[in-house]
Amino acid sequence: MLCGNDIAKAKALLEAGDVVAVPTETVYGLAANALNSKAVSKIFSVKGRPDFDPLIVHAASKEEAFAWAKELPNEALALAEAFWPGPLTLVLLKKSVIPSEVTSGLETLGLRVPNHALLRSLLQTLDFPLAAPSANPFGYISPTTAAHVADQLGARIPYILDGGPCTIGLESTIVGFESGKAVILRPGHIQKEDIAQVIGYTPKRRESPAERPPAPGMLSSHYSPKTPMEWMEGKHLVGNNEGVLYFSGRQKPEGHAYEILSEQGHLTEAARRLYGCLRSLDKQGLKKIWVELIPEGIGNAEALKDRLNRAVGKQPLSS
Ligand code: TXA
Ligand code: MG
Repeated sequence: MLCGNDIAKAKALLEAGDVVAVPTETVYGLAANALNSKAVSKIFSVKGRPDFDPLIVHAASKEEAFAWAKELPNEALALAEAFWPGPLTLVLLKKSVIPSEVTSGLETLGLRVPNHALLRSLLQTLDFPLAAPSANPFGYISPTTAAHVADQLGARIPYILDGGPCTIGLESTIVGFESGKAVILRPGHIQKEDIAQVIGYTPKRRESPAERPPAPGMLSSHYSPKTPMEWMEGKHLVGNNEGVLYFSGRQKPEGHAYEILSEQGHLTEAARRLYGCLRSLDKQGLKKIWVELIPEGIGNAEALKDRLNRAVGKQPLSS
């Protein structure tokens, strides 16, 4: 495995049908030529990803992204104009040139124009779009640095394009359409209030149908460390060999392992640091990671709460 910022090298590997890890503003992705079904299958085998979990396709511009969509609802165009390049994925009906491996057989396709300079330069030099899920083994925490990718997939991929730490740190907001009306399939940095500003109403959150979730980010245990996690509710003592993920706090706790998401309790910093903090606690061989509840009144913490609920495997009792 090699790591660097050589766009020509990444391009050559992708053109040859190989996979390359790429930076985005949300999390690192594991990319392949979205028009080449063999290359796309490599993504699934490297990640150990089940074949029912569709991939997001990344393009250099909204024109290039929409070239793969069969229909373009007015609201999708308005959202793309407002938020692309950026952390928004739009799920639209796909054209048949997109192989069914990309969409796990679905008629719809997730499209995104990422906002990361190095990745945008790469996309501009390619004459195909990039299918890319997050660059982690299936079910584990998403990577927000090249080192996170190298840690887990380094032995299985030929190159990591290193674009520095991700500035947002949580995966994109996913928006689908039902009879032309927007619905949120996965909360993210772009919030329903931001979307309402553009389309004139607050989109509903689509909950998971039991058997086959439309977005497997909806699987209840996902984005998880290997160490058991539990919400820290009420008063209690941290046991031997247990650690704590604190939301905020300026005093250094003593006597146990810990990470603090944001000393001053800022949501954007907490989101950016979440996956790195979970990884670092997960490496310490702890028996348990306690998770401090996110306080009320600090703004819209929906995306952060969503990822923490999935990492812990359940919502806090007090929510
Ligand atoms: O920020 C992101 O979205 C990152 C970066 C790399 O772009 N990507 C990402 O990909 O998080 P992934 O594969 O880890 O999560 C993509 C989610 C999956 O849960 C998938 O099911 C959903 O998007 N998805 C993709 N295509 C879909 C479709 N046609 N309908 C419903 N959900 C879809
Ligand atoms: Mg993922």
